[in-house]
Amino acid sequence: MWRFLSQIVGAILIALPSIAVAEPAQLERRGEAVQLIVDGRPFLIRGGELANSSASHRPFLAPAWERMKAMRLNTVLAPVSWELIEPEEGRFDFSTVDWLIEDARAHDMRLVLLWFGTWKNSMSTYVPAWVKRDPARFPRTLDDEGQSQEILSAHSAETREADARAFAAMMRHLKIVDEDHGTVIMVQVENEIGFLPLAKEGTQTGDRAEDERQQARLYARFANAVAAAGKAEYRLPMFVNGAQRRAGAEPGEYPSGGPLAHLTREWREEAPNIDFIAPDIYFNNFAEITDAYVASGNPLFIPEANRASDPRVGANALRAIGRNEAMGFSPFSIDTASVEDAARIASLYGMLEQLEPLILDAQADGRIAGFSNQVNFAGEVDLASIEASFEGFTFTATTIDPWTPRDAQDLSTHGALLIRLGDEDFIVAGQGVTFTVADEKGAGQVGLEAVEEGYFQAGRWTATRRLNGDQTHQGRHVRLPPGDYTIQKMRLYRY
Ligand code: DGJ
Repeated sequence: MWRFLSQIVGAILIALPSIAVAEPAQLERRGEAVQLIVDGRPFLIRGGELANSSASHRPFLAPAWERMKAMRLNTVLAPVSWELIEPEEGRFDFSTVDWLIEDARAHDMRLVLLWFGTWKNSMSTYVPAWVKRDPARFPRTLDDEGQSQEILSAHSAETREADARAFAAMMRHLKIVDEDHGTVIMVQVENEIGFLPLAKEGTQTGDRAEDERQQARLYARFANAVAAAGKAEYRLPMFVNGAQRRAGAEPGEYPSGGPLAHLTREWREEAPNIDFIAPDIYFNNFAEITDAYVASGNPLFIPEANRASDPRVGANALRAIGRNEAMGFSPFSIDTASVEDAARIASLYGMLEQLEPLILDAQADGRIAGFSNQVNFAGEVDLASIEASFEGFTFTATTIDPWTPRDAQDLSTHGALLIRLGDEDFIVAGQGVTFTVADEKGAGQVGLEAVEEGYFQAGRWTATRRLNGDQTHQGRHVRLPPGDYTIQKMRLYRY
């Protein structure tokens, strides 16, 4: 009997090394980019965030998984709310987390969990009833007229510790159920933290910018304590997301002290356990906002890139990935996308899926560029051509299609990626963008040796059309037609 048992134990021990155990996802600097490493490999999030109430009941979300799969998503951003996981203090119910993980795995998708804890869009409506009903223990903030509001105070150690305990319990549970699978790849701590309707809690100094910085430090210390408690249980990358500042608005008119680009320093100094701050972008000036987050030293991830119905979703994604080395992109309310919007996203994400390994390597090596026309806060579109230089060559891109009448073009959809594959080899991918190429130093002429349209499958290029004649304007340009996403491969030469 003992001999038999020890043989079985021995066999299990021998088999163990061959059982694949996923490593938890982590952020890693690779050359010029900070990337998300999943299962030991760089990963590009083709994401979508669920509408706020879609993940409270499993049957409600059930029909959406196939639709999200068909949109070629590889990651779903899903809320987990404090009120549902800790209905009574100290009694946890992780069923939401468990079924989200099961359903994501069944559809071969990853999850980014959004911790709707003390704050969700500034407010405190996702806290459990035992928190809501005990203002003496969990103090509330006051508005400009001294009225108590549904926003818990960030000064309260009691609130911070209760939130951190719940979050830590969730991370402990995640470690048990998911460490070997790595379905959950990142966690967002709270949601759109920011104070209203004043620049900070309590007495105002009169200097709104200074008040906002103080409130940012207060929030950052709170979020850091929550993140630290969670990471002590299970170490996954963690970020916070910020509601953006409306042009001309003052702190308090927009959620004050949140994780905004201009407060990166306060957040970084006070919250070392938060890996980066991220923008939620519902305003027109997408490029200005993403550029500001990157310029202040954040790796870029856009957890809410407007709604799936925004026609600019594709152009914004390609610019962020190509120009700002974004690790991912995620329109909001993905589960409610219309058939038409879903088809647009499927086409975009299908193309990104083909290009994923090329994109990730090119981001690390600085061999990638992204193009879209830029829009300011007021919605005015800048249609100036855009240049991108690589050693030896300068590309000039225009997002106005030369062969389509202007009034028949939806310029908001026009955007592209450009990736260098070798000395003279490049690919372009997108729609509605036309490129010309010149010698970087203005010496000599550059021509198109050959241009192909095609697709990548398992990293291998298959050409479906040789482009020449009218399709390259007799060798003068490379054109991604408007209307849908295509990929073209070109070889340049000099004459
Ligand atoms: C931003 C928030 O983060 C989301 O949860 C959601 O409320 C959207 N705004 C608006 O629908």
